[in-house]
Amino acid sequence: MKTKTEKRFLHIAQLGVPIIRKRAIPVKKIDEETKILTRDMIATCKEVEGVGIAAPQVFQGLQIFILASYPNPRYPTAPKMKPMAVLNPKIVARSSEMEKGWEGCLSIPGIRGFVPRHISITAEYTTIEGIRQKKIFTGFVAKIFQHEYDHLQGHVFVDRVDTKDIITEAIYQKMTRKLLKKSITHLK
Ligand code: NI
Repeated sequence: MKTKTEKRFLHIAQLGVPIIRKRAIPVKKIDEETKILTRDMIATCKEVEGVGIAAPQVFQGLQIFILASYPNPRYPTAPKMKPMAVLNPKIVARSSEMEKGWEGCLSIPGIRGFVPRHISITAEYTTIEGIRQKKIFTGFVAKIFQHEYDHLQGHVFVDRVDTKDIITEAIYQKMTRKLLKKSITHLK
């Protein structure tokens, strides 16, 4: 029998499943079910080496996503942070400066896109403890925030890239390994 504290890995909806293109609805009440969902989303994200995951990706049309940056084989240079749940987010300000970075998506396996994103954003959101916060996000975490926020509007990263800026995961991995090798050699 499954206990309440047992972690579960959730199925991930892929592009083509209607929920990926639907706008998520706000969370009205943070109850035990919400807490279990966010905990399972964090476990699932880690299991598949993601740095973020949004509720529609696990078949839940709610305004919830996880930010969970850490260095892993999919994102070797990602900064380490404690995974956090973001509920009912609103981006209230965006830097005019943008920067392109390679992104992948658990719902679109096998490809990467060089996606332009605002280098910093100011966002309001509710924590899993129910506290409304306002915070500035910068760098890689700001990019994850924008990627996951898009999921809540029914958007995916390929909507934001020039098709010429899409490459396969295999080539991306090759490129990253080469770059890492170069930077290590440089440090010696
Ligand atoms: Ni995604």
